[in-house]
Amino acid sequence: MTGEKYLAWAQVEAQGVSDLYFDWATGVTADEDMVKLIEELPSSKRQPNLVFASARMAGVPLVTYQEARSEFVARWDAICGIALTHATQTNEVRRCAVLLPELAKIRGPIALLEVGASAGLCLFPDKYAYRFTTESGVHELAPAEGSPVVIETELRGRAAPKRLPDVVWRAGIDLNPLDVADPVSLHWLETLVWPEHDERRRNLHAAASVVAAERPLLVAGDLNEAFTEVVAQAPADTTLVVFHSAVLVYLSPSARESFVGKMRASGAVWISNEGKSVLPEVAAQLPAAVENGTVLAINGTPVAIVGPHGQFFHALPDS
Ligand SMILES: C[S@@+](CC[C@H](N)C(=O)[O-])C[C@H]1O[C@@H](n2cnc3c(N)ncnc32)[C@H](O)[C@@H]1O
Repeated sequence: MTGEKYLAWAQVEAQGVSDLYFDWATGVTADEDMVKLIEELPSSKRQPNLVFASARMAGVPLVTYQEARSEFVARWDAICGIALTHATQTNEVRRCAVLLPELAKIRGPIALLEVGASAGLCLFPDKYAYRFTTESGVHELAPAEGSPVVIETELRGRAAPKRLPDVVWRAGIDLNPLDVADPVSLHWLETLVWPEHDERRRNLHAAASVVAAERPLLVAGDLNEAFTEVVAQAPADTTLVVFHSAVLVYLSPSARESFVGKMRASGAVWISNEGKSVLPEVAAQLPAAVENGTVLAINGTPVAIVGPHGQFFHALPDS
């Protein structure tokens, strides 16, 4: 089972995205002893992303699986210790680029709430610069004061946004908010970025400098439990926009349903960016054949398939 999961992850997530992680995941698949070691972890801690980041944190070098295998075994206790005390809190600033085509359409001033915010890097879509590669060429958009973060994304089926959102208040909720000013947390966030992805690491550090200077409100708690209290802090006369990326997958089906109910009752604009099977009512509206990626939906209606790390925004027909 674990071996099969690693193979599926290699083929769906890593192939063409990280050669090294593809090699590691397929290596594990064919290695019964390693699968047994991984199965010593509780099932919620066996994901390749977490195990590989923990291995790197424990000092396993970035070499082929065959070369790295003995290091995995020698450092297994340390790897387990890290996996058990950490979570996949990857904070991917590039996801702002796939939110932007929708965010830019919303009339401001905006009160922006992210649930599952990790370190809050995606709470600053108005402070970053963008390069959208579209069918009509490259379109750039940047704050007047410039930005250390430049995000590149392919945009298909939609005109590039012409303005940045007018965000006047921002807050995040996370089970374990990470503080970018803490070098240990920043190192973990850096380790969660896949090995070859130097541009992602560069933008992580650049965005961390923006967040460290702005210190957004990050509330520790479960998104369902903390929601009402945090929303109550949003200023009057703003449009409340609630968004999340790669978060609801960590919730039970009933907790997801409860969150959807809260969103429907809140009157907020709701932007979700989750895997295809995470929200059944969104999945039911998708065309029969859609490419790999996550689903960007507005108020429960799917509008685009987007790259899991924000690499592309492909508008769905009629969106
Ligand atoms: C994969 S990270 C994604 C972070 C961020 N949304 C992004 O796109 O960069 C998932 C985050 O969701 C948080 N999370 C998971 N379950 C949660 C819950 N029930 N309530 C609040 N946060 C949760 C985790 O702690 C983690 O930081």
